[in-house]
Amino acid sequence: MNNENIVKIENLIKRYDQAGVIALDGINLEIKKGEFVSIMGPSGSGKSTLLNMIGALDQADEGSILVSGQNLMEKKDFSSFRSKEIGFIFQLHNLIPNLTASENVQIPMLQTDASDEEMVKRASELLTSVNLGNRKDQVPTKLSGGERQRIAIARALVNHPSIILADEPTGALDSKMGDIILELLRVIHEKENVTLILVTHEEYVAEKADRIISMMDGKITS
Ligand SMILES: Nc1ncnc2c1ncn2[C@@H]1O[C@H](COP(=O)(O)OP(=O)(O)O)[C@@H](O)[C@H]1O
Ligand SMILES: [Mg+2]
Repeated sequence: MNNENIVKIENLIKRYDQAGVIALDGINLEIKKGEFVSIMGPSGSGKSTLLNMIGALDQADEGSILVSGQNLMEKKDFSSFRSKEIGFIFQLHNLIPNLTASENVQIPMLQTDASDEEMVKRASELLTSVNLGNRKDQVPTKLSGGERQRIAIARALVNHPSIILADEPTGALDSKMGDIILELLRVIHEKENVTLILVTHEEYVAEKADRIISMMDGKITS
């Protein structure tokens, strides 16, 4: 780990005007390259909103946010930033049901200039690394919740992102399967030298990280 900030956020504010909600109320946060941090807080505290800002899925109203050297307050199209820099893992895996595990993993590579052969090979390697090498031609509906989440993890890694954003990745799993997924994320963090930001409302999940950031009512409390 070096000392370079991969995320630097200052006084970030996000309002949902119509709902009269201030989802992020002056966030200041620095995350170092290669860190494993968790963002913990009760439901509605602003965790997902903050994660979506870091992943350029949504834009803030005020403040500044730099991610991998990019100023995300600029008004522009961030799709190439997202596909190169960010791997997303959600609570519900968001896999496409009629595509195979391998095809689902390849989706983010469609935006790169990789050949079909390279995509198939990369998907196969990643599915093997999450212990699904023998399931790569199966569709998600034939697989368990834990297996689907492992496909989602492989998909998040496919373009060698510098940051993985995981929003309640174990929230839909039983605790045993959840532990397997958390252990897998920890191993990936160690092996791939990737920055891992994990959102959770559960303390025992948050504790897997090297640093816990606590949120309440749109603010960071510790
Ligand atoms: N699209 C939206 N429209 C209106 N309010 C929203 C929207 N998304 C989130 N919020 C509100 O913003 C606050 C923070 O939500 P969220 O970031 O989803 O919290 P968490 O992930 O910690 O549960 C909540 O009060 C929520 O109701
Ligand atoms: Mg949330």
